[in-house]
Amino acid sequence: MSRKTIVITGGSDGIGAAAARRLAADGHEVVIVGRNPEKTAAVAREVGIAHHVADFADLSQVRDLAATLLRAHPSIDVLANNAGGIMGHRELTVDGHEKTHQVNHLAPFVLTMELMPALEAGRATVIQTSSAAALRFSDFDIEDLQGERDYAPQTAYGNAKLANILFAEELQRRYGDRGIAPVSFHPGLVATGFAAGTTHYMRWLYQTPLKRLFTISADEGAGQLVWLATGEPGVDFAPGRYYESYKVATKVARELGDAALARELWERSATLV
Ligand SMILES: NC(=O)c1ccc[n+]([C@@H]2O[C@H](COP(=O)([O-])OP(=O)(O)OC[C@H]3O[C@@H](n4cnc5c(N)ncnc54)[C@H](OP(=O)(O)O)[C@@H]3O)[C@@H](O)[C@H]2O)c1
Repeated sequence: MSRKTIVITGGSDGIGAAAARRLAADGHEVVIVGRNPEKTAAVAREVGIAHHVADFADLSQVRDLAATLLRAHPSIDVLANNAGGIMGHRELTVDGHEKTHQVNHLAPFVLTMELMPALEAGRATVIQTSSAAALRFSDFDIEDLQGERDYAPQTAYGNAKLANILFAEELQRRYGDRGIAPVSFHPGLVATGFAAGTTHYMRWLYQTPLKRLFTISADEGAGQLVWLATGEPGVDFAPGRYYESYKVATKVARELGDAALARELWERSATLV
Protein backbone atom coordinates (compact mmCIF):
# COMPACT_ATOMS: atom_id res chain seq x y z
CA MET A 1 0.00 0.00 0.00
CA SER A 2 1.42 3.38 -0.97
CA ARG A 3 1.54 6.12 1.69
CA LYS A 4 -0.94 8.85 0.80
CA THR A 5 -1.12 12.48 1.83
CA ILE A 6 -4.71 12.90 3.06
CA VAL A 7 -6.30 16.21 4.11
CA ILE A 8 -9.51 15.85 6.15
CA THR A 9 -11.67 18.85 7.04
CA GLY A 10 -13.94 18.47 10.04
CA GLY A 11 -11.09 16.42 11.48
CA SER A 12 -11.48 17.73 15.03
CA ASP A 13 -14.51 15.60 15.86
CA GLY A 14 -16.91 12.86 14.80
CA ILE A 15 -16.48 11.12 11.46
CA GLY A 16 -13.42 13.16 10.39
CA ALA A 17 -11.49 12.49 13.62
CA ALA A 18 -12.37 8.77 13.49
CA ALA A 19 -11.20 8.57 9.85
CA ALA A 20 -7.99 10.42 10.72
CA ARG A 21 -7.21 7.92 13.49
CA ARG A 22 -7.70 4.93 11.18
CA LEU A 23 -5.82 6.36 8.20
CA ALA A 24 -2.87 7.51 10.34
CA ALA A 25 -2.74 4.08 12.02
CA ASP A 26 -2.51 2.57 8.52
CA GLY A 27 0.62 4.66 7.88
CA HIS A 28 -0.79 7.53 5.78
CA GLU A 29 0.27 11.13 6.20
CA VAL A 30 -2.93 12.68 7.55
CA VAL A 31 -3.53 16.39 8.00
CA ILE A 32 -6.65 17.49 9.85
CA VAL A 33 -8.48 20.79 9.68
CA GLY A 34 -10.86 21.87 12.45
CA ARG A 35 -12.64 25.01 13.60
CA ASN A 36 -12.08 24.79 17.34
CA PRO A 37 -8.32 25.27 18.01
CA GLU A 38 -8.22 23.29 21.28
CA LYS A 39 -10.22 20.31 19.97
CA THR A 40 -8.24 20.21 16.72
CA ALA A 41 -4.88 20.33 18.53
CA ALA A 42 -5.99 17.63 20.99
CA VAL A 43 -6.94 15.19 18.18
CA ALA A 44 -3.72 15.98 16.28
CA ARG A 45 -1.63 15.43 19.40
CA GLU A 46 -3.34 12.15 20.21
CA VAL A 47 -2.94 10.81 16.66
CA GLY A 48 0.50 12.39 16.06
CA ILE A 49 -0.44 14.32 12.91
CA ALA A 50 -0.37 17.89 11.58
CA HIS A 51 -3.35 20.18 12.02
CA HIS A 52 -4.74 23.52 10.87
CA VAL A 53 -7.61 25.67 12.04
CA ALA A 54 -10.08 27.56 9.87
CA ASP A 55 -13.67 28.71 10.36
CA PHE A 56 -15.51 27.96 7.11
CA ALA A 57 -17.97 30.74 7.94
CA ASP A 58 -15.15 33.09 6.89
CA LEU A 59 -13.87 32.49 3.34
CA SER A 60 -10.68 34.48 3.94
CA GLN A 61 -9.74 31.80 6.50
CA VAL A 62 -10.42 29.10 3.89
CA ARG A 63 -8.14 30.87 1.40
CA ASP A 64 -5.39 31.27 4.04
CA LEU A 65 -5.77 27.58 4.88
CA ALA A 66 -5.39 26.62 1.21
CA ALA A 67 -2.26 28.76 0.85
CA THR A 68 -0.70 27.16 3.95
CA LEU A 69 -1.58 23.65 2.75
CA LEU A 70 -0.18 24.34 -0.73
CA ARG A 71 3.15 25.47 0.74
CA ALA A 72 3.41 22.37 2.95
CA HIS A 73 1.99 19.84 0.46
CA PRO A 74 2.65 20.54 -3.24
CA SER A 75 1.04 17.16 -3.97
CA ILE A 76 -2.11 15.92 -2.20
CA ASP A 77 -3.57 12.44 -2.81
CA VAL A 78 -6.89 12.86 -1.02
CA LEU A 79 -8.98 15.85 0.01
CA ALA A 80 -11.92 14.88 2.23
CA ASN A 81 -14.38 17.78 2.32
CA ASN A 82 -16.06 16.50 5.47
CA ALA A 83 -16.64 19.59 7.66
CA GLY A 84 -20.26 20.61 7.91
CA GLY A 85 -23.54 20.26 9.69
CA ILE A 86 -27.05 21.54 10.23
CA MET A 87 -27.50 25.04 11.69
CA GLY A 88 -30.18 26.93 13.64
CA HIS A 89 -31.96 30.16 12.76
CA ARG A 90 -31.00 31.73 9.43
CA GLU A 91 -27.69 33.52 9.84
CA LEU A 92 -25.35 35.28 7.43
CA THR A 93 -21.58 34.78 7.47
CA VAL A 94 -19.05 37.62 7.37
CA ASP A 95 -19.04 37.01 3.59
CA GLY A 96 -22.79 37.68 3.47
CA HIS A 97 -23.88 34.13 2.62
CA GLU A 98 -26.38 31.91 4.43
CA LYS A 99 -24.25 29.94 6.88
CA THR A 100 -25.39 26.36 6.06
CA HIS A 101 -24.77 26.96 2.36
CA GLN A 102 -21.36 28.48 2.98
CA VAL A 103 -19.96 26.02 5.55
CA ASN A 104 -21.21 22.90 3.74
CA HIS A 105 -20.84 23.96 0.10
CA LEU A 106 -19.16 27.30 -0.72
CA ALA A 107 -16.19 26.82 1.63
CA PRO A 108 -15.28 23.34 0.29
CA PHE A 109 -15.83 24.69 -3.23
CA VAL A 110 -13.24 27.43 -2.53
CA LEU A 111 -10.85 25.05 -0.76
CA THR A 112 -10.97 22.54 -3.63
CA MET A 113 -10.41 25.20 -6.29
CA GLU A 114 -7.54 26.84 -4.39
CA LEU A 115 -5.88 23.47 -3.77
CA MET A 116 -6.23 22.40 -7.41
CA PRO A 117 -2.48 22.59 -8.27
CA ALA A 118 -1.69 20.13 -5.44
CA LEU A 119 -4.75 18.00 -6.22
CA GLU A 120 -3.78 17.74 -9.89
CA ALA A 121 -0.19 16.92 -8.91
CA GLY A 122 -1.50 14.06 -6.74
CA ARG A 123 -4.24 12.95 -9.19
CA ALA A 124 -6.36 13.29 -6.09
CA THR A 125 -9.53 11.69 -4.88
CA VAL A 126 -11.85 14.49 -3.67
CA ILE A 127 -14.43 13.16 -1.20
CA GLN A 128 -17.61 15.00 -0.26
CA THR A 129 -19.28 13.90 2.98
CA SER A 130 -22.84 14.41 1.83
CA SER A 131 -25.98 12.99 3.42
CA ALA A 132 -29.23 11.17 2.72
CA ALA A 133 -30.72 14.52 3.80
CA ALA A 134 -30.07 15.51 0.17
CA LEU A 135 -33.06 13.31 -0.67
CA ARG A 136 -35.14 13.57 2.52
CA PHE A 137 -34.95 17.29 3.34
CA SER A 138 -33.99 19.16 0.17
CA ASP A 139 -36.20 21.55 -1.74
CA PHE A 140 -33.59 22.68 -4.21
CA ASP A 141 -34.19 26.04 -5.85
CA ILE A 142 -31.23 27.29 -7.88
CA GLU A 143 -32.73 30.81 -7.61
CA ASP A 144 -32.82 30.63 -3.80
CA LEU A 145 -29.58 28.90 -2.77
CA GLN A 146 -29.27 31.21 0.25
CA GLY A 147 -32.75 30.44 1.63
CA GLU A 148 -33.88 34.07 1.34
CA ARG A 149 -37.42 33.24 0.28
CA ASP A 150 -37.84 30.10 2.29
CA TYR A 151 -35.61 28.99 5.19
CA ALA A 152 -35.78 26.04 7.54
CA PRO A 153 -32.62 24.49 9.04
CA GLN A 154 -33.32 21.02 7.67
CA THR A 155 -34.14 22.32 4.16
CA ALA A 156 -30.99 24.45 4.07
CA TYR A 157 -29.02 21.41 5.21
CA GLY A 158 -30.64 19.07 2.65
CA ASN A 159 -30.00 21.60 -0.13
CA ALA A 160 -26.34 22.03 0.90
CA LYS A 161 -25.82 18.27 1.01
CA LEU A 162 -27.40 18.00 -2.45
CA ALA A 163 -24.98 20.71 -3.58
CA ASN A 164 -22.12 18.46 -2.32
CA ILE A 165 -23.25 15.71 -4.70
CA LEU A 166 -23.81 18.06 -7.66
CA PHE A 167 -20.37 19.57 -7.01
CA ALA A 168 -18.76 16.11 -7.17
CA GLU A 169 -20.59 15.38 -10.44
CA GLU A 170 -19.51 18.66 -12.04
CA LEU A 171 -15.94 18.36 -10.69
CA GLN A 172 -15.79 15.01 -12.46
CA ARG A 173 -16.96 16.58 -15.74
CA ARG A 174 -14.51 19.48 -15.51
CA TYR A 175 -11.44 17.83 -13.97
CA GLY A 176 -11.90 14.07 -14.45
CA ASP A 177 -9.65 13.98 -17.51
CA ARG A 178 -6.95 15.78 -15.52
CA GLY A 179 -6.83 12.88 -13.05
CA ILE A 180 -9.12 14.25 -10.34
CA ALA A 181 -11.53 11.62 -8.94
CA PRO A 182 -14.43 13.20 -7.05
CA VAL A 183 -16.93 11.12 -5.11
CA SER A 184 -19.68 11.77 -2.55
CA PHE A 185 -21.25 9.58 0.12
CA HIS A 186 -23.71 9.34 3.00
CA PRO A 187 -21.96 8.05 6.13
CA GLY A 188 -25.09 6.63 7.78
CA LEU A 189 -26.74 8.03 10.92
CA VAL A 190 -23.69 8.49 13.10
CA ALA A 191 -23.40 9.31 16.82
CA THR A 192 -21.26 12.46 16.71
CA GLY A 193 -21.53 16.13 17.66
CA PHE A 194 -23.87 16.45 14.66
CA ALA A 195 -27.00 18.62 15.15
CA ALA A 196 -25.79 20.03 18.50
CA GLY A 197 -26.40 23.59 17.29
CA THR A 198 -29.65 23.25 15.36
CA THR A 199 -33.17 24.29 16.31
CA HIS A 200 -34.56 21.35 14.30
CA TYR A 201 -35.80 18.23 16.15
CA MET A 202 -32.67 16.42 14.94
CA ARG A 203 -30.90 18.05 17.89
CA TRP A 204 -33.25 16.27 20.26
CA LEU A 205 -32.72 12.96 18.46
CA TYR A 206 -28.96 13.14 18.07
CA GLN A 207 -27.98 14.73 21.37
CA THR A 208 -29.83 12.54 23.89
CA PRO A 209 -29.33 8.88 24.95
CA LEU A 210 -32.08 8.08 22.40
CA LYS A 211 -29.43 8.27 19.71
CA ARG A 212 -28.27 4.79 20.70
CA LEU A 213 -31.45 3.47 19.10
CA PHE A 214 -30.69 4.62 15.57
CA THR A 215 -27.04 5.61 15.17
CA ILE A 216 -23.79 3.83 14.44
CA SER A 217 -20.45 4.77 16.05
CA ALA A 218 -18.18 7.47 14.61
CA ASP A 219 -15.64 4.76 13.82
CA GLU A 220 -18.20 2.81 11.80
CA GLY A 221 -19.44 6.04 10.21
CA ALA A 222 -15.88 6.77 9.07
CA GLY A 223 -15.71 3.43 7.24
CA GLN A 224 -16.76 4.67 3.81
CA LEU A 225 -14.52 7.74 4.05
CA VAL A 226 -11.54 5.46 4.77
CA TRP A 227 -12.60 3.08 1.96
CA LEU A 228 -12.90 5.90 -0.60
CA ALA A 229 -9.66 7.58 0.56
CA THR A 230 -7.65 4.40 0.14
CA GLY A 231 -9.55 2.97 -2.85
CA GLU A 232 -8.50 3.13 -6.47
CA PRO A 233 -10.76 5.39 -8.56
CA GLY A 234 -12.43 3.52 -11.40
CA VAL A 235 -11.69 0.19 -9.72
CA ASP A 236 -13.04 0.43 -6.17
CA PHE A 237 -15.47 3.28 -6.82
CA ALA A 238 -16.89 5.16 -9.79
CA PRO A 239 -15.69 8.79 -9.94
CA GLY A 240 -18.46 11.39 -9.86
CA ARG A 241 -21.01 9.08 -8.20
CA TYR A 242 -22.84 9.24 -4.86
CA TYR A 243 -22.50 6.29 -2.46
CA GLU A 244 -24.55 4.89 0.38
CA SER A 245 -23.53 1.72 2.28
CA TYR A 246 -20.51 1.21 -0.01
CA LYS A 247 -22.67 1.13 -3.17
CA VAL A 248 -23.77 3.69 -5.75
CA ALA A 249 -27.04 4.91 -4.26
CA THR A 250 -30.19 4.06 -6.19
CA LYS A 251 -32.86 5.99 -4.25
CA VAL A 252 -31.67 9.55 -4.78
CA ALA A 253 -32.89 13.12 -5.18
CA ARG A 254 -34.24 13.77 -8.69
CA GLU A 255 -31.63 16.50 -9.25
CA LEU A 256 -28.75 13.99 -9.29
CA GLY A 257 -27.31 13.53 -12.76
CA ASP A 258 -28.81 16.82 -14.00
CA ALA A 259 -25.72 18.15 -15.78
CA ALA A 260 -27.25 21.53 -16.59
CA LEU A 261 -28.18 22.09 -12.93
CA ALA A 262 -24.74 21.01 -11.69
CA ARG A 263 -23.10 23.40 -14.18
CA GLU A 264 -25.39 26.23 -13.10
CA LEU A 265 -24.61 25.59 -9.42
CA TRP A 266 -20.88 25.64 -10.19
CA GLU A 267 -21.11 28.91 -12.11
CA ARG A 268 -23.21 30.58 -9.43
CA SER A 269 -20.87 29.33 -6.69
CA ALA A 270 -17.85 30.70 -8.57
CA THR A 271 -19.59 34.09 -8.88
CA LEU A 272 -20.57 34.15 -5.20
CA VAL A 273 -17.07 33.51 -3.87
N1 LIG B 1 -23.61 12.35 11.99
C1 LIG B 1 -24.45 12.00 11.02
O1 LIG B 1 -25.43 11.22 11.25
C2 LIG B 1 -24.25 12.50 9.63
C3 LIG B 1 -25.10 12.00 8.61
C4 LIG B 1 -24.91 12.45 7.31
C5 LIG B 1 -23.90 13.33 7.01
N2 LIG B 1 -23.10 13.82 8.02
C6 LIG B 1 -22.05 14.77 7.64
O2 LIG B 1 -20.83 14.30 8.16
C7 LIG B 1 -19.91 15.39 8.27
C8 LIG B 1 -19.18 15.30 9.60
O3 LIG B 1 -20.14 15.50 10.64
P1 LIG B 1 -20.09 14.70 12.03
O4 LIG B 1 -21.30 13.85 12.08
O5 LIG B 1 -18.76 14.09 12.23
O6 LIG B 1 -20.38 15.90 13.04
P2 LIG B 1 -19.46 16.63 14.15
O7 LIG B 1 -18.99 15.62 15.15
O8 LIG B 1 -20.32 17.76 14.62
O9 LIG B 1 -18.22 17.17 13.35
C9 LIG B 1 -18.34 18.27 12.49
C10 LIG B 1 -16.96 18.72 12.08
O10 LIG B 1 -17.11 19.84 11.19
C11 LIG B 1 -16.38 20.95 11.72
N3 LIG B 1 -17.08 22.20 11.45
C12 LIG B 1 -18.36 22.52 11.76
N4 LIG B 1 -18.60 23.81 11.45
C13 LIG B 1 -17.44 24.31 10.94
C14 LIG B 1 -17.04 25.57 10.46
N5 LIG B 1 -17.86 26.64 10.48
N6 LIG B 1 -15.77 25.73 10.00
C15 LIG B 1 -14.91 24.68 10.00
N7 LIG B 1 -15.23 23.46 10.47
C16 LIG B 1 -16.48 23.27 10.92
C17 LIG B 1 -16.31 20.70 13.22
O11 LIG B 1 -15.23 21.46 13.74
P3 LIG B 1 -15.12 21.83 15.34
O12 LIG B 1 -15.56 20.61 16.09
O13 LIG B 1 -13.66 22.15 15.49
O14 LIG B 1 -16.02 23.00 15.57
C18 LIG B 1 -16.13 19.20 13.26
O15 LIG B 1 -14.78 18.85 13.06
C19 LIG B 1 -20.76 16.66 8.09
O16 LIG B 1 -20.53 17.18 6.80
C20 LIG B 1 -22.18 16.16 8.22
O17 LIG B 1 -23.07 16.97 7.49
C21 LIG B 1 -23.26 13.41 9.30
